[in-house]
Amino acid sequence: MNEKHRFQGGVMRPFRVANILHENESTHTLLLSGRLPKAKAGQFVMAWLPEVGEKPFSIHAKIPLALTICDVGPVSHAMVSLQVQDRVWIRGPLGNGFELKGSKHLLVGGGYGAAPLSFLAQEVFRQGGQALVCLGAKTKADLILVERLKRQGRELRVATEDGSEGRQGLVTELVGEAIDAFQPDCLYACGPTGMLLALADLCKQRSLPAQLSFEALMRCGVGLCGSCELPEDLCLQLGLPGGWLVCHDGPVAMIG
Ligand SMILES: Cc1cc2nc3c(=O)[nH]c(=O)nc-3n(C[C@H](O)[C@H](O)[C@H](O)COP(=O)(O)OP(=O)(O)OC[C@H]3O[C@@H](n4cnc5c(N)ncnc54)[C@H](O)[C@@H]3O)c2cc1C
Ligand code: FES
Repeated sequence: MNEKHRFQGGVMRPFRVANILHENESTHTLLLSGRLPKAKAGQFVMAWLPEVGEKPFSIHAKIPLALTICDVGPVSHAMVSLQVQDRVWIRGPLGNGFELKGSKHLLVGGGYGAAPLSFLAQEVFRQGGQALVCLGAKTKADLILVERLKRQGRELRVATEDGSEGRQGLVTELVGEAIDAFQPDCLYACGPTGMLLALADLCKQRSLPAQLSFEALMRCGVGLCGSCELPEDLCLQLGLPGGWLVCHDGPVAMIG
């Protein structure tokens, strides 16, 4: 990592909450009073609240900076409890981000993984490519961004585990069919590790390149502390070098 990257990763800047979108019962999108014009889809920021803590969040949009946060624990709860005009301190953009390959792109999101993919879908649109988006969640109530993506004219397929919206089952079941019908040049995904590993297998069977965005416990966010190292068995399974750091070498793993 060069000094410039390390320095940028260390600088915290205060942003104010300018607006809040309620995506579902536990997930809010915070629109912040600032922009990260150089941010790429798939990159993340470290967001810090005094006396609460700091956690990584994917960039949902860069102008204005938007973060989509699901309330699961102390930091995320404090983040979704912020009100308009409250302050949050941001470091970033950090990590590598997605690289669009070819012209036909299959985007797959599980849970709040839909947020960075919505950002990526805008990039595809800007570059004049074609995108098919597949989203999965446990129930209809857990889905996010479906209506917004539809309003933006994105081609969308949905799976829920209980069948309350779209196809009943896992999003990975939709993806096999989507690959065969859409014949994408590359697959891009963000979501739970189990979903990413299933997608890695599917893509390997079909010799389709994949870009998979992983999560891990992070502390420094810039490749210094080692807390986000991907377990060795996962590195082996994915063909990544041992000691792969989610914050610095990823979060997006380029497979195939
Ligand atoms: C690169 C990267 C990008 C991320 N992007 C986002 C994002 O865009 N939006 C977002 O909300 N979070 C995102 N996260 C996760 C986020 O950084 C925190 O881990 C999460 O908010 C939980 O932190 P916490 O302090 O609130 O709770 P913790 O104390 O860390 O976790 C509380 C409990 O919830 C569990 N848990 C953690 N995540 C989930 C989950 N998704 N669903 C259910 N249970 C969970 C934990 O295992 C633990 O048992 C990202 C993480 C990484 C590494
Ligand atoms: S979070 Fe410190 S090395 Fe990745």
